[in-house]
Order: sequence, then C-alpha cells, then structure tokens
Amino acid sequence: MEVTHLAVDQIIKAFLFILFAFFSVFLTLVLFFYFSRKKIVKIAVEKKNQELHYQKEILQSVIQTQEDERMRIAQDLHDDISSKLNVVSLNTHLLKTPNLSEAEYAEIIDNIVTLTKKALENSRRIAHDLLPPVFEKFGLHAAIEELVLEFSSAKNVQIEYVNDLDFSSLETNKQLHIFRILQELLNNSIRHGKSTNISITFVSKNKQNTCFYSDNGVGFKTNFGNQKRGIGMQNIESRINFLGGYINVQSEIDKGVQIEFNF
Ligand SMILES: Nc1ncnc2c1ncn2[C@@H]1O[C@H](COP(=O)(O)OP(=O)(O)OP(=O)(O)O)[C@@H](O)[C@H]1O
Ligand SMILES: [Mg+2]
Repeated sequence: MEVTHLAVDQIIKAFLFILFAFFSVFLTLVLFFYFSRKKIVKIAVEKKNQELHYQKEILQSVIQTQEDERMRIAQDLHDDISSKLNVVSLNTHLLKTPNLSEAEYAEIIDNIVTLTKKALENSRRIAHDLLPPVFEKFGLHAAIEELVLEFSSAKNVQIEYVNDLDFSSLETNKQLHIFRILQELLNNSIRHGKSTNISITFVSKNKQNTCFYSDNGVGFKTNFGNQKRGIGMQNIESRINFLGGYINVQSEIDKGVQIEFNF
C-alpha cells in the first residue's frame, strides 16, 4: 500500500516537474520571441521597403519607356505619315479644280503618287521599328541575325553572333524580351562604349539558357553608387525579372563590358 502511495507521489512530482519544465521552456520562448520580435519585424520591414522601392523603380522606368515610346511613335506618325497624307488630300482636292491643263493634272497626279509611296514606306519603317516582321515570321534567331546585320552594316562595328539554343520552345513574348534586351545592349555598346567588336553567344550552361554578351568599348563603372542607372539598364533588369532569370554586368573603364544573363 505504502509502495503504491510512493509511486503515485513520485508520478505526481515528475508530472509537476515536467509541467514546470515545459512552462519554463514555453516562458523562455515567449520572452525570446517577444524581445526578438521587434528586431525581426524591423528587418522584415526594411527588406519589404527595399523590395517596394525596387519595384517602384522598375515600374517607373516601364512607364517612362512607354511614354517615350508613345511620344516617338506620335512624332513619327505626325512627321512621316500625317503630314504627307495631308498634302495628298490637298492634291486630291486640287483635282476637282475646273479647267486644269493636262500638265497641271499630270503634276498633281505625280505628287499624289510620290507622296503616297513615301507615306507607305514610312508606315512600313515605323511598323518595322515597333516589331521587325522577320521576328513574327521566323522567330528570335532570325530577328537577331537581322539586327546584327543592320547594326554592322550601318555602324563601324564587327558583331559575332553564335547561337546553340533552340528559341522556338520559348513563348513569343519571352523571345521579344530577349530581342529588346539585345537591342538595348547593342545601342549602349555603340552609343556609350564606341565599341568596334561585339560578341553575342547563346549557350546552355548548367542546363540554363544563357547569353554571353561582350564589347570592347570604353567600359563604365558598374558600381553606380548614388548615381542613377539609366532607364535602359533598368528596363533590361525588369525584362530579366519577367524571364525569371538573373543578369550579371561586369565592366571597368577601358575594359569593355561583359554581360551574362539567363532565362
Ligand atoms: N556598353 C557600354 N559601354 C560603356 N558604357 C555603358 C555601356 N552600357 C551602359 N553604359 C553606361 O551606363 C549608363 C546607363 O545605361 P542605360 O542604358 O541604362 O542608360 P542610357 O543609355 O544612358 O539611357 P537610355 O538607355 O535610357 O536611353 C550609360 O549612360 C553609360 O554611361
Ligand atoms: Mg541605354
């Protein structure tokens, strides 16, 4: 009988001890979380703020580019299409003038034909600038080949383009992002870098679609510090974000630019 009493006593004691231990651990944890919560929340808030700031920057650059693009298209339409169609319209009205001589009639018709032809050429060029037809018809690879050809024939630059990838499995809008990235990189290499040699290589690296881009231009300090990156580079970053890839830009003054991005 006494033995059972002792055992019950010990069980109760052990139970109380475990309860106490649990309670202590629980209390310690609560205290720990309570005191470290502020710090964690602060870090999280800072991180969130940084992310928001980054998103805001990207959004602003996207909006800015859209506005610039709209302005450029509006200008092109106004200068190269509307103005010509206006004169065509004027000339067409002139045809209604009574008693036109044959020479006058021929001149007016001539004007109309020339101006319509120019307006047509310009509208083709504007459409081509917006989206090269070769891109829609033959995809990214052909569009890059054409881009490279256009750049190397118009500017004093040698461009080597090597591609080991099959772009056809990529969605069209992803292909377009890659095309726009290369357009911006090429523009930068020529405008800022004054490059004479550029290399573009697409390969599979660790099963990732990767592009290596380099130029032999004047280079620049990649550590911008307080200096703002241009909209061009910000746009490239947001496009890479969209592609779910990453980009690494390496450059030094007089050492050209080496860029690697994947998608
Ligand atoms: N290939 C390059 N060679 C030398 N400098 C470069 C090169 N690419 C970028 N830079 C430098 O980085 C800056 C930022 O480039 P970014 O394309 O973002 O802006 P931008 O070309 O000046 O303007 P935007 O592209 O908006 O018309 C450039 O002004 C230039 O100083
Ligand atoms: Mg640029």
